Amino acid sequence: MADEQTHIFFKPGQSDTAPILMLHGTGGDEQDLSKIASYLLPTSPQLGIRGRLIENGQTRYFNHTADGSFDLNSLNSETDWLLETIDTYTEQYHLDQEKMIVVGYSNGANVAAYAWLTKRPRFKKAVLFHPMLLTPTVDLPDLSKISIWGSHGEQDPIVSKTNFDELMQSLTGTHADVSIFEHEQSHNINEPELVSAKAWVTAHIS
Ligand code: MLT
Repeated sequence: MADEQTHIFFKPGQSDTAPILMLHGTGGDEQDLSKIASYLLPTSPQLGIRGRLIENGQTRYFNHTADGSFDLNSLNSETDWLLETIDTYTEQYHLDQEKMIVVGYSNGANVAAYAWLTKRPRFKKAVLFHPMLLTPTVDLPDLSKISIWGSHGEQDPIVSKTNFDELMQSLTGTHADVSIFEHEQSHNINEPELVSAKAWVTAHIS
C-alpha cells in the first residue's frame, strides 16, 4: 500500500489523452522519464512512481539477493506494492488505467514486464526501454489485449540478446501484440529508438 514514504510525480495533462505511467531505471527517480514522456505524448497527464528500495545507494523496484541474483520474493512483493500504488494514485488523479501507457526503462521496464507475466495489472500498453526477463514464466497468461513495444542494444552489458529474445518470445507466446526495436549501441536510449517509440505510441493511443 502507498504510504507517506511513497515518492510520486504528477504532471496534469489533457484528461482525454492517454495518461503515461513512468517507471525509472536503477538509481533513477519518479521524474526521470518526464522529458521522454512529454516527447512521446506531449499533452498526456504523467504519473511517476519511485521504487521504494535502495541498494548500494540506488533506488530500485526490487532487490538482489546476497549472491547477486534477483530476489524473487522481493520482486513478487514489490510488484504487488507497485500495482497497489498505481491503483491508489490513478484513482486519486482520475487517470484511466485502461488507456494508460507505461513508459519503463531498465529496472522499471523489467518490473512492468514481470507484472504482466505473473499478475493481473490493469494497464494494457507499454513502451519498455531495454527490458529483460527476470525469471522464466512457467504458465504463460493470455495477454491478447496487451500491446508492447520493447527495445534492445546489441552491445548491452546488462541485457544479453538471448535474454531479451526470451522475454519477447514469452510475451509473444501470451498472444500480446509485440513490437521490437534493436540498435547497435548499449543500455542507453538513443534518438532513433525514441522516434520508433513515438511512432508506436501514436499508432496505439486510444
Ligand atoms: C535489473 O536489476 O532490473 C536489471 O539488472 C537492470 C538494471 O540494472 O536496472
